[in-house]
Amino acid sequence: MRKYVFLFVSITFLLFSCKNNENYSFENNIIPKPLNLEINDGFVEFGNKVFLVLNDDSQDALRLKNYISDYLSPCNISIVSEEQKGGVNLVLTLIEAQSKEGYHLTIEDNKIEISSLTYNGLFLGFQTLRQLLPPELEAGNAPELIRLPHIKIYDEPRFKYRGMHLDVCRHFFTVEEVKSYVDLLVMHKFNVFHWHLTDDQGWRIEIKAYPELTRVGSQRSGTLIKKNWGEYDDIPYGGYYTQDEIKEVVKYAEDRFITVIPEIEMPGHALAGLTAYPELGCTGGPYEVSKTWGVFDDVFCAGNEKVFEFLEAVIDEVIELFPNSPYIHIGGDECPKTMWKTCPKCQLRMKEEGLADEHELQSYFVQRMEKYINAKGKQIIGWDEILEGGLAPNATVMSWRGEEGGIAAAKSGHNAIMTPGGYCYFDHYQSEDTDSEPFAIGGFTNCEKIYGWNPIPDSLNNDEAKHILGVQANVWTEYILDLPHVQYMVLPRMATLSEVAWSKQRDAEYSTFKKRLQTMFVRYKNAGYNYAKHEVE
Ligand code: ACM
Ligand code: ZN
Repeated sequence: MRKYVFLFVSITFLLFSCKNNENYSFENNIIPKPLNLEINDGFVEFGNKVFLVLNDDSQDALRLKNYISDYLSPCNISIVSEEQKGGVNLVLTLIEAQSKEGYHLTIEDNKIEISSLTYNGLFLGFQTLRQLLPPELEAGNAPELIRLPHIKIYDEPRFKYRGMHLDVCRHFFTVEEVKSYVDLLVMHKFNVFHWHLTDDQGWRIEIKAYPELTRVGSQRSGTLIKKNWGEYDDIPYGGYYTQDEIKEVVKYAEDRFITVIPEIEMPGHALAGLTAYPELGCTGGPYEVSKTWGVFDDVFCAGNEKVFEFLEAVIDEVIELFPNSPYIHIGGDECPKTMWKTCPKCQLRMKEEGLADEHELQSYFVQRMEKYINAKGKQIIGWDEILEGGLAPNATVMSWRGEEGGIAAAKSGHNAIMTPGGYCYFDHYQSEDTDSEPFAIGGFTNCEKIYGWNPIPDSLNNDEAKHILGVQANVWTEYILDLPHVQYMVLPRMATLSEVAWSKQRDAEYSTFKKRLQTMFVRYKNAGYNYAKHEVE
């Protein structure tokens, strides 16, 4: 008898723990953590047949159909207008709701249903479903039987701006590589790709009115070796995107409900542009596309009308290429005033405009460009230096030198995006044992630090806090030469920041999140991504 009791207890325990394990693992599959998640008894099981039920041919619906049928092609997916027998139905519906990106995901009664106010929300709901599906799908393989738990999710993001930046100036990334980077944003529910297209070390976007920008400005004669200042590899380096290539990336992102914000740096970080058109600098040059990193005294002349003519023409073309971006990022960071102080044109401008100092001259520059960009129906974003000398009236501030810039912007009624170096610079080391890491610019930002960060500073009241639109991580590529290295720097820090950006309720302990992160690693591995292993348990 005792033997049977023992057997009964063991079997019950086994069944119970299996069920709980299933629940446990499914719940833990989803990063960023959804707002409400309920796992119920039972499973939906299906073999190799999925019906995507979506009865609409709008452009957004087509985007969604293309994306899902591509991702689920190993599952023998067909697009149908009503539910079918002989497979699992994946039903997508638009509903009345408040949140543009919120979605419901319900799995029960042999059916998977995603509903949202928008196709964007349906797409995000599908990203959650993707995380419940077998990770083999990331490698393009489907198991014979797929088992999903009965589940009810309602989810919506904490922040509406969830950005990832990529510097393609210090090192260049091909269209295919940039698309692959956009795929990472998709997987982690980021919605903005900030494309840093111009800098001292290279001008990377074709501008038809100024062909020398790419003919000359996209090339440098060598690159600094590590931090051996003054030592160069003497290997010519360059690259740029034609306008067709830019359009291709923008469309790729748009098909995945991601906005691409272009950054055209001004008035500083301008050496590549000045090398192409030396008359735009205070001294007239000659200049050289920079082989080294840092902040350079030669910047666009703020007293020369030709500079504004040039930048307005550049902006005209850029706006055409990024029709869906509400923003143009105009840089504004790290602009030394050295040349302006001795330039007769800059000094005359200050006198004529009644500007007290060179910071006000920078403010004049940014405000003038803002006016031009606003008149074209777009807003500007600038790094937090644009606060100095007076903030342009409608500008959004990207706070990178800590959170102070974001705080000052929000307190003065301006929008801000938080991207402080200590938490959001993914070019930093992710281990304190730097010898065991690929050479990096410096700093230390690991997942635990990121997870503990609250992007809304305590010093903001509720009304001010509404001006914090969201967060962004920056990937500066001085020492990041290829896509696998980019992946190493952002994975899994991106997963961690995604939860900061998206989840209204995070795990109380980093260790709990870290356990959940393990399921992401399985996905990364299947997708063939080169991820950092520090957080692997
Ligand atoms: C920056 O890192 N210079 C914005
Ligand atoms: Zn000047």
